[in-house]
Amino acid sequence: MSQNAHFSVNTRLTRLLGETYRSSEVALKELVDNAWDADANNVWITLPTMITGEAIIVKDDGSGMTAPEMLGEYLNIASDKRVRSGDRTAKLKRKVKGRKGIGKFAGLILAGRMEISAIARGRICSLTIDKKELIENQNDLEAVPLPFSEAPFDQAESGTTITLSQLDTRLNFPVSERLREVLVQEYGREADFNVFVDGIRVSLEDVPGTTKRTEHKLPIVGDINLHFTIAEGKKLPKSPGIVLKVDGKVVGKPMFFGLDDDDEIPEKLVKRVYGEVEISGLDDFVTADWGSVIENSKAYQEVQEHVRSVVKVGLQETHVRDMSLQKARLKKQIDQRLQKLPEHRRQYAQEALNRILRRFYMESEERIATIADVALDAIEHDAYWAVLDRIGQSSHGDISSFAESLEQFGLVELSTIAAQTARRLQFLDYLDQLVNNQQTLEKDAHKALETNLWVLGRKYSTMSSNNT
Ligand SMILES: Nc1ncnc2c1ncn2[C@@H]1O[C@H](COP(=O)(O)OP(=O)(O)O)[C@@H](O)[C@H]1O
Ligand SMILES: [Mg+2]
Repeated sequence: MSQNAHFSVNTRLTRLLGETYRSSEVALKELVDNAWDADANNVWITLPTMITGEAIIVKDDGSGMTAPEMLGEYLNIASDKRVRSGDRTAKLKRKVKGRKGIGKFAGLILAGRMEISAIARGRICSLTIDKKELIENQNDLEAVPLPFSEAPFDQAESGTTITLSQLDTRLNFPVSERLREVLVQEYGREADFNVFVDGIRVSLEDVPGTTKRTEHKLPIVGDINLHFTIAEGKKLPKSPGIVLKVDGKVVGKPMFFGLDDDDEIPEKLVKRVYGEVEISGLDDFVTADWGSVIENSKAYQEVQEHVRSVVKVGLQETHVRDMSLQKARLKKQIDQRLQKLPEHRRQYAQEALNRILRRFYMESEERIATIADVALDAIEHDAYWAVLDRIGQSSHGDISSFAESLEQFGLVELSTIAAQTARRLQFLDYLDQLVNNQQTLEKDAHKALETNLWVLGRKYSTMSSNNT
């Protein structure tokens, strides 16, 4: 049977058709979301190469569509799926991703022609949408004829295949690697939903960063498999954390297993963990609705401790590596300035820089360098520096400003003397402590006074003591 089908539209259409996607890859994800909503277990995406310019194919093994569904629901633009059929999918009770009833058009952003072919209940139906016709009839979409056909299908399977052809060469071609990165964020940890791009399953390895996989046997829970990536780069995981899977089924939301309360790990670093931990045959510590874990159960605590300690080692390695990389880059920038400092100050400066790096971990490098510069300014320039600089400059000028700048020197002197006095008083308190201590020997007292003869009076202040 062959006929022409038509869109049914409501008034929000014009606005909705203007929906924009950040990239071809993000647009393609809409079609994967549709497969999710159709309770598919697998989606296979085939990307053509730029050179062959073949079609993009997105095939799923979900519920497919019957002819009435395709003509009714699929072509019913801008109708909210959750209003139509609730916010959980029919079979697998997944949270529905569909919202506005326009996801299907994402394919048409990339392609001139979209063919939808669906198998359900022993029949196959197909529909072709031509972008050019849509654009030409923007104001009357309902009038656009869409070639539709239906035929019996003798296998028991179901599913939907979207074929996108006449790809728009002015747009960025979807790139497999980038598409995997987009998809792994949301689907990388789903147990019953596998997404394949050109035959290879999207997995945690697709999160750019360092991936680790460990297998252990614990006394209570038995076999435990931990698999995580510490993400790198600007795009961090959308919902970071580690999901717990018991018998392949996810329990609750991603968790941090106590790492978020660990003072030794910067918070920002913890947010880069993306992973899953799998155990089997034990659901004692899972609430009846599988919505969360019973945290005070012995088994869960064992899992928590295991995950926390293994991931912590990984995080510490990353931290140390990041810090030393950052330090090396920072050092390169400020090395010259460091070299100019006298030895004892240089050490102090190094410590200050380490503190800055720890404190501003993962801030932009530009920002860290600026803070380091300011810190170095403070270390380099003692109080006299600015005044002497000014005196030096005015020494070539008129006498009165020369004299004025010399006056500034006195003011600095006064404030330094005040500061020195306060510190000397503090020193005397400590000296008192030393002298009053029963265990202090003469040689200790001598050591303390060796370079501090100012204690005995002004005229001794530049001398130094010897053994006699
Ligand atoms: N791959 C698919 N398998 C089965 N049904 C689909 C598929 N893609 C789309 N549909 C049907 O078409 C409808 C419209 O899809 P879409 O335009 O993405 O809007 P939304 O997902 O917001 O409902 C969906 O709600 C669903 O009923
Ligand atoms: Mg959708």
